[in-house]
Amino acid sequence: MTFKKAILCIGAGYVGGPTMALIAFKCPQYKVTVVDIDPKRIAQWKSDNLPIYEPGLDEIVKATRGRNLFFSTEIEREIKESDIIFVSVNTPTKMFGAGSGMAADLQYWEKTARQIREYAESKKIIVEKSTLPVKTALAMERILTSTENEVHFEVLSNPEFLAEGTAIKDLENPDRVLIGSRETPSGLKARDELIEIYANWVPKERIITSNVWSSELSKLVANAFLAQRISSINSITALCEKTDADILEVAQAVGMDSRVGSKFLNASVGFGGSCFKKDILNLVYLCRHYGLNEVADYWEGVVRINNYQKDRFILNMLSAMFNTLAGKKICLFGFSYKANTGDTRESPAIFIARKLIEEKAELVITDPKALNNAMIDLNGIDGKVSYVEDPYEASSGCDAIAVMTEWEIYANLDFKKIYKSMAKPAFIFDGRNILDHKRLYEIGFNVFPIGKPALTHF
Ligand SMILES: NC(=O)c1ccc[n+]([C@@H]2O[C@H](COP(=O)([O-])OP(=O)(O)OC[C@H]3O[C@@H](n4cnc5c(N)ncnc54)[C@H](O)[C@@H]3O)[C@@H](O)[C@H]2O)c1
Repeated sequence: MTFKKAILCIGAGYVGGPTMALIAFKCPQYKVTVVDIDPKRIAQWKSDNLPIYEPGLDEIVKATRGRNLFFSTEIEREIKESDIIFVSVNTPTKMFGAGSGMAADLQYWEKTARQIREYAESKKIIVEKSTLPVKTALAMERILTSTENEVHFEVLSNPEFLAEGTAIKDLENPDRVLIGSRETPSGLKARDELIEIYANWVPKERIITSNVWSSELSKLVANAFLAQRISSINSITALCEKTDADILEVAQAVGMDSRVGSKFLNASVGFGGSCFKKDILNLVYLCRHYGLNEVADYWEGVVRINNYQKDRFILNMLSAMFNTLAGKKICLFGFSYKANTGDTRESPAIFIARKLIEEKAELVITDPKALNNAMIDLNGIDGKVSYVEDPYEASSGCDAIAVMTEWEIYANLDFKKIYKSMAKPAFIFDGRNILDHKRLYEIGFNVFPIGKPALTHF
């Protein structure tokens, strides 16, 4: 079959894999290839055990792989053969040198830009899919045009707004697709080519365009706003716990104001994931770079409250369990940073697990999809940790359960059976407020929700 165009995606991760699978699914007329420097990851994408878990992903990959979706490690050849290149490599927080702990580490991204420059033999549209600091496209253009190579490159920004756990749903039915371009004739032409791809399934009015810098900045700001809502509600949980107010009642009353809205007002042990913290810190770094210290301080507060919330969770556990956790067996229900994903990057569970080990507690970790990643995250930790898939077996003999992830299965367990098998007094710390607290209390548990009065038998 001859294809209309060849799309390449560099980076086969949580964004590159699902986004390209969906483009291939919706646009059989395009050939879509995903490449990565990691051969193991590519081998997994070609196998029955995909490297990431996302509801609905397996079905879409099965329907398209070998038809118009391909995975490869031959980056050089694929660059040559492509018309449109999405760059979806990781852009973690830089952990060395200037900007350490704040700025984006652009080494993977820059390496990609240089590879494209080196191997491209015909004109290309380069699409920034990774989340990048505002003005990165300018640097990319400079790298791409810094040789004798006559090839024309047009750089577009098309940030990805999918959320892990609902990636396929979000990609199929996005709130908006944002495309930033130069306002030159070639910039506008490239923009139209990208619009043409999305228009295969996204209604035209949801495909919005802007200049490149607004597009780059919008992604950082969108994540900062989402994280800010979580930190805002979490900051109030501390006050609720002091005053017998109930965060669920407060969130409902506040969220019913149509100017505020009810989404993203769930109190929790804190946000995690590979993006929120890094993107806010990147925003903070950019603001400081431009001398906007008040703005930087404001956004840095979102991360500070998130750290405070995780610290508070541990301190609450300690004080509830008679100020010592040494030798106590604690079961973590969930390790992924949110439900419906196996991703544990920046999961609050990592921080909580490390703190509990510091307190000399013994840990049992259970999670339906994230146990392999949990083992990697806690590899080499100096303490007693075991990993058990079945939550009943995991909690048996434990002194306490701490809910780290809002997996639906945890809300529907037989807690009478669990209570019977645990050491007494038995504690539950519900870091996601997903359990029926009153019922747990009636069974015999001492229950510590977030931002609600504790229910104890003492
Ligand atoms: N994960 C999310 O939910 C999400 C959502 C929106 C945006 N983003 C952004 O998308 C980008 C990618 O995130 P991710 O979660 O998919 O990261 P990831 O770490 O899962 O995947 C990145 C992949 O790029 C590969 N890679 C790195 N350098 C390469 C190179 N030179 N050539 C080929 N492959 C290379 C890595 O091996 C890795 O497999 C980041 O900028 C992130 O901020 C992520």
